[in-house]
Amino acid sequence: MAEETSGYENEANMTTTCSAPGKIYLFGEHAVVYGKRAIASAINLRTTATVAESDRTTISSLLGTTGIDYAVHPYISRCIESLNIPAVSIKIDSEIPVGSGLGSSAAAVIATLGALNFEFDLGMTHTALAQAGHAIEQDVQGTASPTDTAVSTMGGTMLITPGVSASRLRLIECSIVIGDTEEFSSTKELVGNVRILHESYPGVMDSIFDTIDHLSEIGVPLIERRDYRSVGELMNIDHGLLDAIGVGSAKLSRLVYAARDAGAYGAKITGAGGGGCIVALVSGSGVGGGADAVASAINDAGGRAIRTKASEDGVRVRKQVI
Ligand code: MEV
Repeated sequence: MAEETSGYENEANMTTTCSAPGKIYLFGEHAVVYGKRAIASAINLRTTATVAESDRTTISSLLGTTGIDYAVHPYISRCIESLNIPAVSIKIDSEIPVGSGLGSSAAAVIATLGALNFEFDLGMTHTALAQAGHAIEQDVQGTASPTDTAVSTMGGTMLITPGVSASRLRLIECSIVIGDTEEFSSTKELVGNVRILHESYPGVMDSIFDTIDHLSEIGVPLIERRDYRSVGELMNIDHGLLDAIGVGSAKLSRLVYAARDAGAYGAKITGAGGGGCIVALVSGSGVGGGADAVASAINDAGGRAIRTKASEDGVRVRKQVI
């Protein structure tokens, strides 16, 4: 893990700060729960966990300050209880909207585990951190693929093949515009609904998941060639398939079509769906270009546009004086 230390020796006045990124899916959400391939990318929105030894355990976030509390802070409570560590104070600050499909829970889990790993010298490697994070997401949610925690730990644009270690692809270099519906989406509930549909129509659902797997497969060389126009076309197909498995909504599609009509290469739901966000790939890499028009169109369609970029940076830790 990348480590930056300030050089100060007095441990009593030190905190450990660790941050980890959120992510977008280009292809493969939901299908990945059924063992299919997915492509996801870390983005430059991050969650930070600040940790210090304390006389009692506290967790502070936008939701308030609690002790171990599975109603308010289920993920962070589980992180603490999964490790054999003394009392600690943890503060969470996040740029990632919660329950939006951008991997806010995975980023909080990986930032917290990363900070605790460093603070208490637990010796976890990146791989161990991603595995521990995945186990925590599974404990809290019931079902979780390794995608969010792998991407949040490693950063970059990644091909996820469940059961096989994730492989790094060329970073997405074009602009990314996210459209937030600002409607909360429960991953657990959406994954449960898809499971019910899969139990009713296994043949239909399996062929959709196989098609999504194929999108991920043929997306890899397109990403390597930076052919974002073709990647966008495949994203549009994936959006239709996500709609078909019941995780779309009128507002998600409104934002998707607004982004496409404003010139995006492609746009689709990202994450569990239901509410949450869409993601659009857009020409250009800096200010201006297609991103301004796409962001305005998303805002005009009733969403909240977030302009972002893919990021190579995974988990980052720092020890500092308080
Ligand atoms: C949620 O961000 C993505 C899903 O595929 C669930 C998962 O991968 O754990 C719906």
